[in-house]
Amino acid sequence: MTENIDLADMRVAYGGDDDLEESDLAGGWLALARVWLQQAIDARLPEPNAITLATVDADGRPATRTVLCKELSESGVVFYTNYGSAKASHLESTPFASATFPWIGIQRQLTVRGPVTRVSADETAAYWATRPRGSQLGAWASQQSSPIGSRQDLELQLADVTDRFENGDVPVPPNWGGLRIAPESVEFWQGRNNRLHNRLVVTASGVERLQP
Ligand SMILES: Cc1cc2nc3c(=O)[nH]c(=O)nc-3n(C[C@H](O)[C@H](O)[C@H](O)COP(=O)(O)O)c2cc1C
Repeated sequence: MTENIDLADMRVAYGGDDDLEESDLAGGWLALARVWLQQAIDARLPEPNAITLATVDADGRPATRTVLCKELSESGVVFYTNYGSAKASHLESTPFASATFPWIGIQRQLTVRGPVTRVSADETAAYWATRPRGSQLGAWASQQSSPIGSRQDLELQLADVTDRFENGDVPVPPNWGGLRIAPESVEFWQGRNNRLHNRLVVTASGVERLQP
């Protein structure tokens, strides 16, 4: 029930840390992104590598969901998913995405936008090997984004694959792997008092400050 929740009155004053300055980007976007990620970790934010991923479906309608960033490098943001999922099919028709790290607990967000490509099979295999066996089996058990009749049906699918791979390593499913968003633009957002937030966007043309 939301009747007693006063959403209109909910607001937090931002500020307190040093202003984000163009000079903070002297070492490039990645160096600052890593500093911010480390600060999000140090602040014990829940799942600091979680990103809100936006894609666009074949009708041009946006969709968002959370995924986990598993690599942040000069080549962009990598996440892992099912290549048959809704998001992956969106990215086949429109191979561009936007991903936001919503580090609200430290009054920041970082948004990476750009073209999306699959990571190599070798990279996927290397990451797959680090996943717990239960997660590996779960990936085999789920035709992500397809309907299923009941929870029980899902548990049966898990039981099937558990039996199937009982006697050995669980291989990478053929329809599963990494996707990389190249950093065509990277926006650093820092909350400030009176909603005069700081926004710096890094693109191939340089660093630009945007109004909040
Ligand atoms: C914290 C969190 C982390 C998640 N991480 C992933 C992930 O790394 N990969 C993934 O495919 N789905 C992940 N999910 C599930 C997705 O949000 C989503 O439900 C799923 O990928 C299906 O999305 P789609 O139907 O739009 O393709 C995560 C959800 C949450 C809340």
